[in-house]
Amino acid sequence: MLSATSLKLTAKRPSSFYQEVIDGLRAENKYLSSKYFYDEAGDKLFQQIMASPEYYPTRSEMEIFQHQSVKMASLFQEDSSSFDLIELGPGDATKSWFLLKELQKEKAPFTYYPIDISSNVISWLEDRLPVTVPGIRMQGLNGEYMEKMQQVSTFSTGRKIVLFMGANIGNMTPHQATFFCRQLHDRMQPGDLLLIGFDLKKHPRTILDAYNDRQGFTRAFNLNLLRRINRELGADFNVDQFEHYPVYDPGTGACRSYLISRIAQEVHVGEMTFAFREYEPLYMEISQKYALPEIQHMAAQSGFLPVHTFMDSKKWFADVLWQRQP
Ligand code: AVJ
Repeated sequence: MLSATSLKLTAKRPSSFYQEVIDGLRAENKYLSSKYFYDEAGDKLFQQIMASPEYYPTRSEMEIFQHQSVKMASLFQEDSSSFDLIELGPGDATKSWFLLKELQKEKAPFTYYPIDISSNVISWLEDRLPVTVPGIRMQGLNGEYMEKMQQVSTFSTGRKIVLFMGANIGNMTPHQATFFCRQLHDRMQPGDLLLIGFDLKKHPRTILDAYNDRQGFTRAFNLNLLRRINRELGADFNVDQFEHYPVYDPGTGACRSYLISRIAQEVHVGEMTFAFREYEPLYMEISQKYALPEIQHMAAQSGFLPVHTFMDSKKWFADVLWQRQP
């Protein structure tokens, strides 16, 4: 099984991993980018996170797709014309599978375009989906979201429905997320639809626990990026000297993960040396949580009109359907 993979906000060359790491470690407030979590070991750890009792978002969104795919499919077909169903970061498509099955059953006239930065994800889907969704018309695209969105427009001028699920939008700040939606808007036509998965604000303890599972998968997931940097960029992080420290601010809805340097220490990345003070934080990831009015506000800010909100029975997660405004 493959997981949701890395979020790429901007087009960059492969060597940018090194450059981004250096930039982050040189900064006044040190940071690394969570989009690099997903190497082979990271994909596996993310699978274990998703299966852990504390990490609810996957189960909540799964419930939405299990129970509400019929309604979703009908909203997608209000306009009876054929459409391109584009999924950004499909992972193993276990959630969208329910929707694809339903659309296929209803003989909806669509072509599925999964877009992912991981070629593994794309080749796996191209092998599997024709088996699990017989007769599906699909073409996988390996690359950056915005670039591949443009490419779909060169294949077809039809209606577009864009899926961006799994709370992947949470790895952006609200400001970045609004900008990202605006970029999608600019690549869509009036009337096109966008479905986004948002993790919702809820009891702060529930949220914090989801990023601090007792089995330590989330800790290992964060530390794994240090191991990846050691291996791929010739660094010498001593992972035992960094402590996983997630925080959740119920006011802003920002859940942030840090690695705290246990001691004053030096880390080398290639030729470069970076000094950590005792207890200095290294900022790893944001997983932003939203209230429904904040989501509405983002729709308006980025040029979309809310059509429907799908929620699980606990109201912990929302998949919102928006229509691109003229
Ligand atoms: C894949 C971005 C939705 O932020 O909840 C899980 C990644 N990080 N545990 C999230 C993640 C730590 C996840 N997303």
